[in-house]
Amino acid sequence: MINQFIRNLPKAELHVHIEGTLEPELMFKLAERNQIKLPFESISAVKKAYNFHNLQSFLDIYYQGTQVLQQEQDFYDLTWAYVQKAISQNVRHTEIFVDPQSHTDRGIPFKVVHDGIYQALKDAESQFGLSSRIILCFLRHLSAEQAMATLKEALPYKETIIAVGLDSSEQGNPPEKFTAVFDRARAENFLTVAHAGEEGPPEYIWSALKLLQVSRIDHGVRCEEDQELVDYLIKKQIPLTVCPLSNVKLKVFDSMEQHNLKKLLNLGICVTVNSDDPAYFGGYIAENYQAAMDALKLSQSEIIQLAKNSFLASFLDSEAKNALIEELNSYTAARSD
Ligand code: HPA
Ligand code: ZN
Repeated sequence: MINQFIRNLPKAELHVHIEGTLEPELMFKLAERNQIKLPFESISAVKKAYNFHNLQSFLDIYYQGTQVLQQEQDFYDLTWAYVQKAISQNVRHTEIFVDPQSHTDRGIPFKVVHDGIYQALKDAESQFGLSSRIILCFLRHLSAEQAMATLKEALPYKETIIAVGLDSSEQGNPPEKFTAVFDRARAENFLTVAHAGEEGPPEYIWSALKLLQVSRIDHGVRCEEDQELVDYLIKKQIPLTVCPLSNVKLKVFDSMEQHNLKKLLNLGICVTVNSDDPAYFGGYIAENYQAAMDALKLSQSEIIQLAKNSFLASFLDSEAKNALIEELNSYTAARSD
C-alpha cells in the first residue's frame, strides 16, 4: 500500500527506461496487433518468468519484450501508458531513457521510435502539464562503432533529445569503450549520463565522470566501496539516480533492508529515487519510495529531500526547477500544519 503523502508528493523521475514500462497486458495486445508469437502462453506465465538473478538474466527477457514494438502507434501507446501511471503518482517531470538500437537492429526506423515517444510526451505536457526530456541510451554490449552510427542517426533530433546515456550489460563494457562517442555527443551539445556502479566496480563510476564527463550517474550504488569517490560525489554534488526495487530484484542488494540509499543520502550525496523498469521490477516511482521508506525507516524529511533532489538533479532550467521546488514546499507546508 502506498501512503497518500508519497503518492501525492510532487516528484521528478530521472531513471526510467521506456521499454521497461511495457506491462504484460500491453505486450500481449501489441503482439496481437503486429501478429507476433510470444514465447509465453499467458500474462501470468510472463509474470512468472520475471524471476531474475542478476542484470543479464533481466536484460535477456527485457530485449525479448521489446520485439512487440513495431509501429509508431506502439511507441505512442507504450509511452502514453507510462504517462498515465506517472500522472497518478504526481510525477511532475520525467526524463525517460530510450534504447533505439534494440529497435533499429530489428529494422524499425529511428524516426518511428522517436516520433511515437515524442508525440505522447508532447500530449502529456499539454493535457497534464507533465514536462519531460528524452535521453538516448547506447547499448554498451554493442560496439563503439555501432554507438557512433546511432549518435549520427540522432543528430536530426537534437532539439528533442537532451542527453545520451549508456545502459545494458555493465561488467566487461566499461565507460572508456565509448569515450570517442561521448566526446562527439558533447561536441554536438548533448548532455551525458551513464549507468555505472550498478554491477560494475567504482572504477566505472570514475571513468564515467572523468572520461564521459557525465552530469549524473545512473545507479552508482557501488560508490560506497571507494571513500575518495564518495567524497568527490558529495563535493561536486553529482546526482545518483537510484532504483531501489530494481537493485533488490537484480540482487545488487540481498534485501531492501540492506540497501544503502539512506546511508548515501545522509552522507550528503544528491540521491534520487526512480523506477528503472517498473513493469519488470514490481513498481513505479511511488512504490519505490514506499518500499525504501518501509525497509529503511526513512523519515518524512528524508522523503522530502529525495523529492527535492529529483528536481535539483533534473535537466530543467533553474526557473522550472525553482517552480517545482516551490510546489513541493507548498505541499509539505500544507501537510505539516
Ligand atoms: N541496467 C542496465 N541496463 C538496463 C537497465 C539497468 O538497470 N534497465 C534497462 N536497461
Ligand atoms: Zn536503468
